[in-house]
Amino acid sequence: MASDRSQSKLFQPLAIADGKITLKHRVVHAPLTRNRGTPYSESTPEKPNRIWVPNDLMVEYYSQRATEGGLIISEAIPPSLEGNGMPGVPGLFIPEHADGWKKVVDAVHAKGGYIYAQIWHSGRANIPQLTGTPILCPSSTPWDDPNDFYAYPPPHSTQQVKLVDYPPIEMTIPKIKSTIQDYCNAARLAQKAGFDGVEIHGANGYLPEQFLSSNINRRTDEYGGTPEKRCKFVLELMDELSQVVGQENLSIRLSPFGLFNQARGTQRLETWSHLCKEIKANHPKLSYISFIEPRFEQIYTAEEKQKFLDSWDLPDISLEPFRKILGDTPFFSGGGWNDKNAWGVLERGDYDALVIGRYFLSNPDLVERLRRGLPLSKYDRSTFYGPLEKSSVGYTDYPTYEKTVPN
Ligand SMILES: Cc1cc2nc3c(=O)[nH]c(=O)nc-3n(C[C@H](O)[C@H](O)[C@H](O)COP(=O)(O)O)c2cc1C
Repeated sequence: MASDRSQSKLFQPLAIADGKITLKHRVVHAPLTRNRGTPYSESTPEKPNRIWVPNDLMVEYYSQRATEGGLIISEAIPPSLEGNGMPGVPGLFIPEHADGWKKVVDAVHAKGGYIYAQIWHSGRANIPQLTGTPILCPSSTPWDDPNDFYAYPPPHSTQQVKLVDYPPIEMTIPKIKSTIQDYCNAARLAQKAGFDGVEIHGANGYLPEQFLSSNINRRTDEYGGTPEKRCKFVLELMDELSQVVGQENLSIRLSPFGLFNQARGTQRLETWSHLCKEIKANHPKLSYISFIEPRFEQIYTAEEKQKFLDSWDLPDISLEPFRKILGDTPFFSGGGWNDKNAWGVLERGDYDALVIGRYFLSNPDLVERLRRGLPLSKYDRSTFYGPLEKSSVGYTDYPTYEKTVPN
């Protein structure tokens, strides 16, 4: 028997963006990279294509998942060639990107939904064959697992390469400044495309988190060496971006206890607490802040993750310390939420909204299914990431509940 959940706090309104946007429910579509973009130019071994643009299939995907008063966070969008960590990912650094994203945004708006652009710089989680540039990192810290392959073979090759063989270069101060300007340029294009706001991808071991992580950031200048200094890049980035879009249209996603992409640093609580205090002081009107659950992990098992938490002397850690620091800033949580465990969480006051990834991917009508207590369709991992022979498979072909149930 389906149980009606419409009285849950998940379906009560939530004001974000300093009251400029009132969401009609609190089931947020997580940022999900799907590599379904269209190549911008012909690709040859001599001149490989390195740019992808949004297309009609992407418009369809986002439109399928847009709901009246619902919030979608876009897939991670690189602000530059250097920042693009995967093939098939449309960026925001040429006019055609803004034109393409505008179609996605318009489709979401047409259904009464809202959409933020997640801006993403991969930093060292990348290979120079893909970007055509040196690989950037706060320090020239090579990949520490000699057996880790980059997930895709280089363009026009069938042979995967090892990340350790392509160590990154340390970003100079001018490079730090110009990279921040790349984010600002992407934010301007996001505004042009009509996005309702911008979310910095500050999680999962990509460039901002590389600055925050003591095992990757080994700098001894003002950008490294202490928790406070390791926060400087992110704080500077937020200051600059809020100049462009306004702090009420800005947000950031953080994973203070994440291990993805070799974020194995220590001083987790000290570093991210300092970061949150500064964010609260400098951006009190931030649109919202989004966290990944301490125990959620993409690669490690629950037991392995617990060992890391124990090693940091944080065996029972929750997001509560950050919630306390951030006070009334709308506070989102993501990582492992489903139709069984999502109930009562917002009522407890721990969070203001839940960010859902994999079940949103496999249930275009996720919000309705949760509201009506209908069962969820399982996701197929093999089609998470493109490019695939047929892009729509595992992307726009997941049916709504009505279409899965024979009449
Ligand atoms: C296919 C796939 C792509 C993802 N891409 C992104 C991304 O672009 N940006 C991001 O912040 N997180 C990304 N994530 C992480 C998700 O946003 C989310 O945090 C994770 O899936 C856990 O939530 P879930 O249990 O609801 O799926 C991705 C996850 C998956 C499965």
